[in-house]
Amino acid sequence: MKPVYTLKDLASRDILDAGADKPARLAVLGWPIAHSASPGMHQPALDLYGIDARYIRLEVEPGQILAAFSRMRDLGFIGCNVTVPHKLDALANCTDVHPDAREIGAVNTVCFDAKAIRGFNTDGPGFERAIEQDFGAKLCNLKVAIVGAGGGAGQAIATQCVLSGVAKLVLVNRTVEKLIPLATRLRLLNPAVEIVSLSFEDVGLAAQCLSCGLIVNTSSVGLKPGDPSILTADCLKSDHWVYDTIYKPAVTPLLALAQAKGCRTANGLSMLLHQGVLAFQHWFPQTDPLAAMRASFEPKIRS
Ligand code: ATR
Repeated sequence: MKPVYTLKDLASRDILDAGADKPARLAVLGWPIAHSASPGMHQPALDLYGIDARYIRLEVEPGQILAAFSRMRDLGFIGCNVTVPHKLDALANCTDVHPDAREIGAVNTVCFDAKAIRGFNTDGPGFERAIEQDFGAKLCNLKVAIVGAGGGAGQAIATQCVLSGVAKLVLVNRTVEKLIPLATRLRLLNPAVEIVSLSFEDVGLAAQCLSCGLIVNTSSVGLKPGDPSILTADCLKSDHWVYDTIYKPAVTPLLALAQAKGCRTANGLSMLLHQGVLAFQHWFPQTDPLAAMRASFEPKIRS
């Protein structure tokens, strides 16, 4: 058993399953992928349901998604998760794509069967469930500001907000030009949602943030030691709910600033959890892996 497999390991079952007690039938595909927490979350759920399958990390170079899908199908894989940088490529290489995944523009969950490669996106719905879990609120009742909306995670969450019919959506991005096609697409998707786009330099930034109830960081600012808070204190008020999609560190500079203001806060662990639950349910309908997956996180939450 290896911590990371490559396409070469998909040459045969003998190679892939050497030294393992169960056949590899699920995987997370990315580049790089060694850091992925997905096997640690999915394997306990597979074991709980007595499913004879191993969930592996598969390192796939950019441009090799189709080759990976073909090999996995030939070997009888049930499906896979897809992460950075392959989510767009995965969408392009599925034979059937769920309409919401097409709107989001990315596939993170794939089901293989004899006839089709079916693609889904569980990041958007996983975010919606995370907000319900962490703040006890339905997305459709909230005014939401997304900071770093131009990146992949931001676009997925912004699309989910519009699909769910949020009361208002404020999109903030360093490169404000990236918001033009996004906002245009989102307005067509749901004309009833008020959408505001702005940069960090915009004089209206604080007022727009203060007009919202939920602030979501989807930028990568806060991942690296020494990163500043993506928003300054004047953009926050004590009754804000602040969600950071980053979960390592557990308390980002934004969340620390928000906590100092008295805001309720949560990090991206809940989104990771719920996108995983929803992916598992695409592969195994009628299951409820939430408790097993949540338990797999507990050591991390304590540390
Ligand atoms: P992706 O999710 O597509 O891989 P990314 O390049 O990792 O994207 O960036 C994610 C988000 O973090 C983007 O919104 C990016 O802003 P730009 O679109 O302007 O690049 C944002 N981001 C990254 N570094 C940033 C910084 N120092 N200040 C503000 N936003 C930043």
